Amino acid sequence: MPTPEPATSPLLVNVTPPYPVHVGQGDSFLANAIAGLALPPLSQVVVVADTQVAEHGHADRVAAAWRARGLPCNTLLVPAGEDSKSVPMWAGLHERLLRLGADRSTLVCAVGGGVVGDLAGFVAATFMRGVPFVTVPTTLLAMVDAAVGGKTGIDLEAGKNLVGAFWQPLAVVADAGMLATLPQPHFREGTVELYKHALLANLPWRSEMHTRDGAVAWPAAWVGERQLTVLRDAIHVKASIVARDPLEAGERAHLNLGHTLAHALETITQHRMRHGTAVAYGLVYAAMVGAGNRPGTHAWLPDVVALARWAADAPLPHASFEALWTAMQRDKKRRGGRLSFVLLNEPGAPDTDTGIPERVFRGAWDALLAEFGGDA
Ligand SMILES: NC(=O)c1ccc[n+]([C@@H]2O[C@H](COP(=O)([O-])OP(=O)(O)OC[C@H]3O[C@@H](n4cnc5c(N)ncnc54)[C@H](O)[C@@H]3O)[C@@H](O)[C@H]2O)c1
Ligand SMILES: [Zn+2]
Repeated sequence: MPTPEPATSPLLVNVTPPYPVHVGQGDSFLANAIAGLALPPLSQVVVVADTQVAEHGHADRVAAAWRARGLPCNTLLVPAGEDSKSVPMWAGLHERLLRLGADRSTLVCAVGGGVVGDLAGFVAATFMRGVPFVTVPTTLLAMVDAAVGGKTGIDLEAGKNLVGAFWQPLAVVADAGMLATLPQPHFREGTVELYKHALLANLPWRSEMHTRDGAVAWPAAWVGERQLTVLRDAIHVKASIVARDPLEAGERAHLNLGHTLAHALETITQHRMRHGTAVAYGLVYAAMVGAGNRPGTHAWLPDVVALARWAADAPLPHASFEALWTAMQRDKKRRGGRLSFVLLNEPGAPDTDTGIPERVFRGAWDALLAEFGGDA
């Protein structure tokens, strides 16, 4: 019999204790990755997934991999969508875990996008004061962003992610095969975060996303091994920033590139605007603020304009600068009273600036409205 190909070694997120991120494709990858995880003794595994992910069979595939490892595995489903990141859903999952006989050696395994990852991760952080957690991200956004870094939480009426905990998983297992069933709008949203990571670390394959006519696309060649390389590179950007700053005391804020405007647009549109759309506009805004703050740089501005033309699926709201400014102040309040804006002087060189004058933010908003028309 031929010797099996050695699996690509996982990425390591170097927090304490470090944990692996396995990136691969297909059922045997999934089964091998789960079989090989170094875990404490466990009584059972409870998979938490949303109904849509379950309909596509992904929750069952993961449960089968746990059973193949010799562990009893149950599944708890929640409705798909952000509304599941709620106090009642979080509290209810504790009751449902108890009904399944869960104890301190029960492992919670999230199978889903950022919603299920944040919700199940927070349940793992609080059930019996904390139980082991493994996450299997099923959206591109969750793979390159939400699954790595240990931020878990739920929403309140007053705002998103207002309750939560840092609770690192014991492992992340990303099966790129699951992306085949992800609806296109969600795929594009994840691509925006992937692109943001490529900008933060100046990854060379970013240029492959720009076609000769100046548009942006997911390159046809990004399948199979090539797709896995791109995913690993993007995850590595997040993993290395998280390892250097696990509790977001400093550098981790760089991951918020494009997000100051994005959060303001989400507030102004009462969260009707998709996060990926808001971040795409936000990246353009970051480049424009940067150019206003330090003229002459920001050759990457046309790139993110092209990205936003491709990724944005809603028009830019024609809000006044005053409305935008008020919304941005809200973000500032949540971040300790200073508007700390992430700038990128050139790809690979992010920086935060707390002293940008208001007129620069105003000028950049006018420029953004001029570029994207604004929804009058
Ligand atoms: N913890 C973090 O660091 C972090 C970072 C970024 C975002 N987030 C959170 O992530 C959430 C957004 O995550 P998201 O964009 O992944 O959304 P999501 O979890 O709502 O998933 C999007 C939709 O796609 C469906 N879906 C997921 N995987 C699928 C698949 N493989 N095939 C078919 N359908 C699939 C889901 O059922 C859902 O309807 C937000 O709540 C945000 O706050 C957290
Ligand atoms: Zn984001």
